[in-house]
Amino acid sequence: MEEKKKMIAKCIYDALNNNEITIEEIEAKVEVPKDKQNGDFSYPCFNLAKVMKNSPVNIANSIKENIVLPEEISKVDVVNGFLNFYLDSDNVVATVLSKIVKEKENYGSSNEGNGKNVIVEYSSPNIAKPFHLGHFRNTVLGKALYDIYKTLGYNVIGLNHLGDWGRQFGIIIEGYKRFKDEYDFDKDPLAALSDIYVRMNKICKEDESEMDKARENFKKLEEGDEEYTKLWEYFREVSLKEYKRIYDLLGSKFDSYNGEAFYNDKMGEVIDILDKKGVLIDSQGAKVIDVGPDMPPCIVLKSNGSTIYATRDLAAILYRARTYNFDKCIYITATEQILHFKQVFEAAKHLVDEKYQKGLEHVTYGMIRLKTGKMSTREGNVIYINDLIEEAIKKAKDIILSKNANLENADEVAKKVGIGALTFNYLKNNKNKDIIFDLDDTLRFDGETGPYVQYTYVRTKSMLEKAGFKVEDLDKEIDYSLLKETQEVELIKELQKFEDVLKRAATENEPSILAKYMIDVAASFSRFYNECQVATLEDENLKAARCALVYATSIVIKKGLGILGVECPEKM
Ligand code: ARG
Repeated sequence: MEEKKKMIAKCIYDALNNNEITIEEIEAKVEVPKDKQNGDFSYPCFNLAKVMKNSPVNIANSIKENIVLPEEISKVDVVNGFLNFYLDSDNVVATVLSKIVKEKENYGSSNEGNGKNVIVEYSSPNIAKPFHLGHFRNTVLGKALYDIYKTLGYNVIGLNHLGDWGRQFGIIIEGYKRFKDEYDFDKDPLAALSDIYVRMNKICKEDESEMDKARENFKKLEEGDEEYTKLWEYFREVSLKEYKRIYDLLGSKFDSYNGEAFYNDKMGEVIDILDKKGVLIDSQGAKVIDVGPDMPPCIVLKSNGSTIYATRDLAAILYRARTYNFDKCIYITATEQILHFKQVFEAAKHLVDEKYQKGLEHVTYGMIRLKTGKMSTREGNVIYINDLIEEAIKKAKDIILSKNANLENADEVAKKVGIGALTFNYLKNNKNKDIIFDLDDTLRFDGETGPYVQYTYVRTKSMLEKAGFKVEDLDKEIDYSLLKETQEVELIKELQKFEDVLKRAATENEPSILAKYMIDVAASFSRFYNECQVATLEDENLKAARCALVYATSIVIKKGLGILGVECPEKM
């Protein structure tokens, strides 16, 4: 795609023969029209009007007259000041399919990132609390971005910045000492710990002397008290055990679980650096950094001398710059933390080189509301991810068995479909869009859902099986020029977009671009499937070419879904 844009820009440039306009400027404006009627690429001539002192339509016409089209482009049209370019179908069909057939599972991968270091910091729950729907959205987004960058040849580092430090641990320790005998920690330790926290927090809020005890506990923990450290380690361990179970299900990968506590002994240096630079300002006993007129200052030390969340984030930036030499460091959190990261990124200008300052990016996601129903009741509004996953798998199994009662490994398939449905549902929406979550919609096989795309994959597999296709068949000579039906050509053009889609998803940190593309591929395949026979064809040459197309589709769907964290069953 990008190569094609370059090629078109070069042709336009040559035709213009005007040294006030550069190829790069032209290339930046070459677009892929939404409606295929307007060609495969188009170039708006409006921005040239000023420079060339002529109307867009006249300019477009004169370019058309002078342009020399390469053989990949079959024609160019002028429509209302746009130049619309049409790719030569024969050429596209052959190049795209032979590329996929040759590269197989590697199709779509590239070295765009050139080994640059990208940190994706995601999930990062506060320990001793159950995982909720927001964390789930965060985690699937992060895992998808991780794999998108990886596929594009970046060196990706997945970090889980656990919320495992702060005064709340003084509260939990106090509560644990008092109430632990009332709970069954073997059964559901996180539910127990979060309940203890809620109870103790209430007590502390009502009674300042209790809060003092909690503060004292945390101070002892900060100083390395043996008993309290052991308790804290226990809280962290049981939390991680539970989270990791979920991460395994979602396919998320982390290179490190160093959370806030990890920076406990690394903040001193940060304060020193900032102090030496003279940027720490006294403000009612606290030490703050001025981060410009549009935001409140970034607090680094509170008036009692203790550090805060932001201090740990500053230490983390310094540590990550040194340890990972990052080109990009992406943070995924809910929108509530927008101000926090603006302040921290601004304050970090006093701490790390420009390269690192520029690499800091905050990615946010919208809220998830529940359609009222069973899932929203337990414990107020908190929905437990385990319940949700189990429910999704159970429902998926019912649906699958109702369609195919003899399916082998129904449990395994149900797991892939249930979890895939949840994951896909989050990712097909723009990350910042609020979602109203409805499990039944998510699991529908006929909408824009994960199961629909998974089912399309299964269909490619069963078509190939019925046609007696073997991967070795691809080594034989295949006559791609036989693929001339509109549905065939459209599908191939769709498959061609894969790499470009991945690049855009990375540039915008927006996995929904990939998820929506998967729906387009599936829809395009359905149109092909409805119109074009494969297994029953008598013409062996056409059959071989169509099998290659079906195979290529299966490659793109499986890989694209895999990047999004949705596994494909072979049958369902
Ligand atoms: N633990 C935080 C929360 O649950 C998110 C951490 C985000 N990352 C960071 N570096 N501050 O809200």
